[in-house]
Amino acid sequence: MSPLQGSPRVCRFYCIEKLMKEYRKIENQPVNKSAAEIFDKAAPFYFIIDLFSASFIREVVRRLSDHLDITRDTKILEVCCGTGLLSRYLSRLSDRIVGVDISPKMIAKAERSAKRLPIEFRVMDASALDFPDGSFDLVAISRGLHAMPGDLREAVTAEAHRVTKSHALFIEPIDRPKSRIFRAVYNVAERLEGGFENYLEFVGMDFGGYLEAHGFSPRPIVETDTAAAYLGRKI
Ligand SMILES: C[S@@+](CC[C@H](N)C(=O)[O-])C[C@H]1O[C@@H](n2cnc3c(N)ncnc32)[C@H](O)[C@@H]1O
Repeated sequence: MSPLQGSPRVCRFYCIEKLMKEYRKIENQPVNKSAAEIFDKAAPFYFIIDLFSASFIREVVRRLSDHLDITRDTKILEVCCGTGLLSRYLSRLSDRIVGVDISPKMIAKAERSAKRLPIEFRVMDASALDFPDGSFDLVAISRGLHAMPGDLREAVTAEAHRVTKSHALFIEPIDRPKSRIFRAVYNVAERLEGGFENYLEFVGMDFGGYLEAHGFSPRPIVETDTAAAYLGRKI
């Protein structure tokens, strides 16, 4: 029996071990690749990250409908959608979801895991979206900003602001985990993403303040010690 068929606890330890192995390989190497290259490589084992984050994302989507009136016709765009985990949960609320990501292999994974769901996935750069102004009711981004260099982060946030009619949902880490084991897991994941320094800078800043400075009136809808989901009303 593969460890991934065992109990959730065995499965988590197996995943941590796998991540640590990858980390040892890259620990002292500078990462200087494009996001598409990095995430094309990460796509086969990104299910590990999805496994860790599914319950948080599910909770965010559950709370989202307490704050926003979402119908099956609500037009939603997820940028930096990766394997499409958030889009899949959002498809419980709406039939009009588009997910975009710069990595073709992440998009291929997303398409495979959402075959029967009303989601359209496209390869697209979130800093230059091929959509008219105000063409979505809600733009969502989950863990897309924190590993980006500042200028790219600004461009992606500006594009989210441009293409949303009224709201944007931002899910990002806001602090480093206190527990050593989880901190190590995050260190591995963030280094693999190639934006470890950007991540440190991001978790050191005021996320709500950042959104306010970029034209949103933010309200936290789910918050833990290490991550937050903010719903931003476009102002
Ligand atoms: C940490 S992953 C997050 C994936 C997913 N949203 C999640 O919550 O698990 C960051 C994603 O952003 C994508 N990405 C990075 N830069 C991008 C850009 N300029 N345009 C679109 N996607 C980008 C990567 O390919 C990757 O899939």
